[in-house]
Amino acid sequence: MTGFETVPVALGERAYDIRVGQGLIGAAGRHLQDLLGHRPAVVVTDETVAALHLPAFAAGLSQAGIPLHPIILPPGEATKSFADLERLIDALLAARVERGDAIVALGGGVIGDLTGFAAAILRRGADFVQVPTTLLAQVDSSVGGKTGINTGHGKNLVGAFHQPRRVLADVGVLDSLPRRELLAGYAEVVKYGLLGDAAFFAWLEGHGRALLDGDMTLRRQAVVACCRAKAAIVGRDERENGERALLNLGHTFGHALEAELGYSGLLLHGEAVAIGMVLAFELSARLGFCPIADVGRVRRHLALVGLPAGLDQGLIQCDAECLYNHMRQDKKVMDGRLAFVLVRGIGQAFVSREVMARDVLAVLEEELLP
Ligand code: NAD
Ligand code: GLY
Repeated sequence: MTGFETVPVALGERAYDIRVGQGLIGAAGRHLQDLLGHRPAVVVTDETVAALHLPAFAAGLSQAGIPLHPIILPPGEATKSFADLERLIDALLAARVERGDAIVALGGGVIGDLTGFAAAILRRGADFVQVPTTLLAQVDSSVGGKTGINTGHGKNLVGAFHQPRRVLADVGVLDSLPRRELLAGYAEVVKYGLLGDAAFFAWLEGHGRALLDGDMTLRRQAVVACCRAKAAIVGRDERENGERALLNLGHTFGHALEAELGYSGLLLHGEAVAIGMVLAFELSARLGFCPIADVGRVRRHLALVGLPAGLDQGLIQCDAECLYNHMRQDKKVMDGRLAFVLVRGIGQAFVSREVMARDVLAVLEEELLP
């Protein structure tokens, strides 16, 4: 098998490989045969991905003599719900999925998170494979084993750590992704530069636009770089007892924005993260940790590629206090104290539990000024 790069995730008995390349979906049988065997592969996907990529995936599996049993769910964040989890579990049981079978998640972060969680609880833990089809899922959600669903109280509040057995990231499928979704995923790509790799951020300043415009070599390089970064962090801190929290750069602010908008799609997760990263840089500058010039550099790059680089008053109509209240519902609250990922500059993130509410409120108020 040629034409792909392998990024190992070193997690002892839960170790697995991420394979990144172009055309992997059409060769899915070769890449997954050892895990799927010859029983029908149960493939969970959404309607949009099914229409675009399920035929190629089915053809790839059939080359290795693997039949396919699809479970097709509605697209969108609303599918990460208790109701859809129940429907999915019913469908998996009806398909007679056994503990030793590997369920395939073919789709973006919604399908990956939901399917991974279903696998975690089905028969007390079934195997699953991630075949991420969005940029966001290829660089972030498919790697590291965080799975779960949303509730009315907030995002991802119910879930489990459950590692996939393999990740197959075919950068070719990103061609069918709407530009807005591609950009939302790109926000997570930028995140890796901002949290720990200033040279990667500088590389993105030089190549980000070409990557977004379809340069496959650059896309593959970016996905590999992000997966390497995430695999290294997850390998050292699988359960987020420390360093892994850095991957939440921009997320505390971002989740508050998504919650305020009711996960309505008015703001995609990656767009919320882009704004959240700007606010995290602003907060860090306000607290004296980060040079103001770096805040400008982050805003400029996000704006240049077409991502939101600040709060849009037309969209977010509540005040700073109300956004802060959403933050307090975050999973990262301990003893009532919020954990913030702050920065000492581009590529130098750290976690702080010392941030005072008044500083967060001041940053939000300033950003919300007309
Ligand atoms: P998504 O799964 O909703 O996909 C976005 C849209 O793109 C959907 O409408 C989908 O049908 C469509 N789509 C997917 N692949 C396509 C393709 N190749 N061509 C055309 N359309 C395609 O959203 P997402 O941005 O992939 O993921 C967001 C989710 O990921 C959120 O729920 C977020 O909480 C979660 N997430 C999880 C982690 C984690 O570590 N588990 C990390 C980051 C984000
Ligand atoms: N997306 C954050 C994490 O996987 O930890």
